[in-house]
Amino acid sequence: EKGGYATYMEKEIFDQPQAVADTLLGRSTPSGDLQLDDMRITEEQLAAVDRVTIVACGTAAYAGMVAKYAIEHWARIPVEVSLAHEFRYCDPIADEKTLVVSISQSGETMDTLMAVKHARDLGALTLSICNTHGSTIPRESDAVLYTHAGPEIAVASTKAFLGQITACYILGLYLAQLKGGSYAEDAKQVIAELQDVPSKIAAVLSDVGRVREVARFMADTRSVLFLGRHVGYPIAMEGALKLKELAYIHAEGFAAGELKHGPIALIEPGQPVFIVVPGPDTPHGLHGKVVSNIQEIRARGARTLVIAEEGDSSVDEFADEVFRVPHTSPMLQPLLTVLPLQVFALELSTAKGLDVDQPRNLAKSVTVE
Ligand code: F6R
Repeated sequence: EKGGYATYMEKEIFDQPQAVADTLLGRSTPSGDLQLDDMRITEEQLAAVDRVTIVACGTAAYAGMVAKYAIEHWARIPVEVSLAHEFRYCDPIADEKTLVVSISQSGETMDTLMAVKHARDLGALTLSICNTHGSTIPRESDAVLYTHAGPEIAVASTKAFLGQITACYILGLYLAQLKGGSYAEDAKQVIAELQDVPSKIAAVLSDVGRVREVARFMADTRSVLFLGRHVGYPIAMEGALKLKELAYIHAEGFAAGELKHGPIALIEPGQPVFIVVPGPDTPHGLHGKVVSNIQEIRARGARTLVIAEEGDSSVDEFADEVFRVPHTSPMLQPLLTVLPLQVFALELSTAKGLDVDQPRNLAKSVTVE
């Protein structure tokens, strides 16, 4: 069942080209129009949506953070991401023009389910992004967009995360198409570009030898920091979460711009820091800003582990290690940049002799509040 891999986690990491390809499959009609699954929301209702609230926990919430950037950019609808267990208790504002999107691999997470029920009570439209057919959350929602990542056995989420991000893109592009005009035109281009992503994921995964090597030498590490910006920010958070869960190492993800507002005080000689570098064509000069961050922490002795696009030589001077990902448009980068971080956590956990498939204290689906 592990398909020749030592653990489910490793298998699931290497299943990711398929997870993304399958989630994309059959979504677009020959004319390039997107379609969702079970739809009990009319196009008219969706077209009237003036606010999106995403509710999710853990890794799924990081997929939701990626979705915020994508949906706001492509469909120009304000998006808020709320941890599902906080949503009900912050007196949320939602009505029939609010689309509440829940993201859940299992479809059984109690916190997320309760948030969906609360949203429904407020009169909001509810849409579930879910990996498990017939589970509770999609049943309780007005519409469903299934991720086709296949069953995820390892407790910590990997391929379901990529499926979730992919589904979030589909939703964002769907909303953009509903808007029509130039929104719809732009969406078509992204849909075409998405088709190339699975082979890029496979390319990254075929070349992870150096990440593994670096991880194996870090089994004694006490703390690792992760920096990212724009869609790289949730990826930094996810990289940190994977390391906590799998290797029991203290890890923190930051928005790179936040560095000078505090976390830079943590940088001392030898401190390992992963930096997710936006592609050079990311708007607003963000690439250059993150390269400056690498320079700043390197000057203070940090050990810089950089994830950057192929051909981006601007990082070489300041990087102790560079892990490369193929070029893609900035919004789609998370599907590639998270891969070295997953492999790093897997390998470090293995080097420490831990059970990567079943980390201590965790359960695959959290069905209590
Ligand atoms: C992280 C992880 C958890 C889940 C979270 C939500 O590796 O597995 O953070 O992402 O518990 O679970 P679902 O997606 O089933 O609602």
